[in-house]
Amino acid sequence: MFEHVQPYAGDPIFALVDAYNADPRPAKVNLSIGIYFDEQGRLPVLPSVQLAEARILAAAGPKPYLPMEGDAACRAEVAKLLLGADHPAIAAGRVATIQTVGSSGGLKVGADFLKTWLPDAAVWVSDPTWDNHRSMFEGSGFQVHSYPYFDSASGGLRFDAMLETLRGLPKRSIVLLHACCHNPTGVDLSAAQWDALIPVLRDRELLPYLDLAYQGFGDGITEDAYSVRALADAGLTFFVANSFSKSMSVYGERCGALSAVCASAAEAERVMGQLRFTVRRIYSSPAIHAGKIVAHVLGDADLRPMWEAELASMRDRILAMRLALHARLAALLPGRDVGYLLSQRGMFSYTGLSGAQVDALREQHAVYLIRSGRVCIAGLNSANVGRTAEAIAVDRNLARISGVSSPMKDLSSGVSPATGLSATTRMPKGASSTALARVAVMTQPLLALYQPSRGRGLTPAVLAMLSTTPRMP
Ligand code: LMR
Repeated sequence: MFEHVQPYAGDPIFALVDAYNADPRPAKVNLSIGIYFDEQGRLPVLPSVQLAEARILAAAGPKPYLPMEGDAACRAEVAKLLLGADHPAIAAGRVATIQTVGSSGGLKVGADFLKTWLPDAAVWVSDPTWDNHRSMFEGSGFQVHSYPYFDSASGGLRFDAMLETLRGLPKRSIVLLHACCHNPTGVDLSAAQWDALIPVLRDRELLPYLDLAYQGFGDGITEDAYSVRALADAGLTFFVANSFSKSMSVYGERCGALSAVCASAAEAERVMGQLRFTVRRIYSSPAIHAGKIVAHVLGDADLRPMWEAELASMRDRILAMRLALHARLAALLPGRDVGYLLSQRGMFSYTGLSGAQVDALREQHAVYLIRSGRVCIAGLNSANVGRTAEAIAVDRNLARISGVSSPMKDLSSGVSPATGLSATTRMPKGASSTALARVAVMTQPLLALYQPSRGRGLTPAVLAMLSTTPRMP
C-alpha cells in the first residue's frame, strides 16, 4: 500500500534543534529555531502566564469543545491587540477573528479559505521568507512566487524592486507580508515604506496577508502593529495571522489567531462562516486552554501590564544582544560593515554566511544557525556572545558576513558626542530605563563605531538617560 511513500527529509529548523540537543559539547550555542531564551539560556515561563494558568486551574471549569472559531473573549482581545481597542473597523463589525492552533494553524486555515474563494490567485512571498510559508501555501494548492526583498549587498531592503514587482502582479494576487521582525532577515519596512506600499496594494487590488508572529519584539506592541493598523485605516481588505508563541512564551500551547478585515460587517459575517467551515474540515475547533490563556493575559487589568513589561524586557534583552554581537564583531573585524545587526529588528538577523560556513560553525565551534545564514539573536547571552563572535571571526572567510566588505562608512557625522549614538539609531520606544542602561554600559566604548541606521530616532529622554550612564572603564 505504501511502497511508493517517499522518506521525509525532515524540516530544516526542527532537524537542527534535534542535532543541537544531541550535541554533547557543553559550550554549544543554539541560534537556530526562533525561540526566545533568557540570559541563563532557559525558556522563560512568564509570571503573567503562570498567574493566568493558576486562575484557569482554580476555576476548575468543565472542558467542552470550543466553537469552531474559538474562545469569544480571546478573539475579542486579539482584534483589539492588533488594531487598537477603538479602531472603527472593530466597532463596525468588519473584523472576523478566529482563534487558531498557533499562527501556523491560522496561516493554513487562511490558505485553504483563499484557495476556495480566490482559486485562480497566486501567492507572492518575500525573497527570502520563512521556510514554511512556501510549503504551506503550496500544500493548499497555490502557485507560490517571490518578490524581491532582501538586499544582500547592504543587509537592507530592496524596496523599489519590491514595489515594482508588486505593481506588475495580476489583480487579486495574494501578497504575504511580514508585519514586523521579518523572518529570516530581520529587515522590516519603515512606517513610510508601509505608507508607500499601501496605494500599490489598493490600486492593484492585491490581497495582503500579514504574518505577525513577533508582535512586541521589534519596537513595541503598538509600533509593531503599524502595518495592520495602516492597512485597516486605508480601508483595505486583508488577512492577518498572529501568534503568541513567542510574545507569551507559550510555544507548545499553540496560541494564535487569524483575522480577516473586511469591507463590511455583512462580508465579515460571511467570511467568518467560511472560516468556521474551513476549521471544521481541518481540526474542528481549537484548544480551550490556549484560548483561556490569551483571554486572561490580554483581558485582565493586572495581568496585561505585567505581560507588557515582560515582553518589553525580552525585547530589551534581544536589543542588548544585538548591540553586544555588533560590538564584538566590529572589534574583531575592523573594516567590516556589520551595522545591519543594529538596523535589523526582532529575533533574527541574516548574516549572509553560506551553507558551508554555517556547517563549519556548527562542526568546529558548536554554534548552530540554520543553513540560510539566519541567526536567532534571542539565543545569545552574555556568556556565549563573545564566543559566538569569535567563532564567526576566527576564519577570515567566515567573516564575509552579509557579503559586505566595503570599508566602514564615515561614522562620525550625526553621532551624539554625549552618547556615541546617532540621533537616528533605532531603539525600542518602550525600552525600560534599566535595560537601556545595561545596554549602554555594555557597549558604550564601541557605540561610536555604529553607523546610523534607518528608521525612527531615539527619544530625547532615552538620549538623556544614555548620556548620564557611566562609561565602562
Ligand atoms: C522559526 O522560524 O524558527 C520559528 O518560527 C519556528 C518554526 O516553526 O519554524
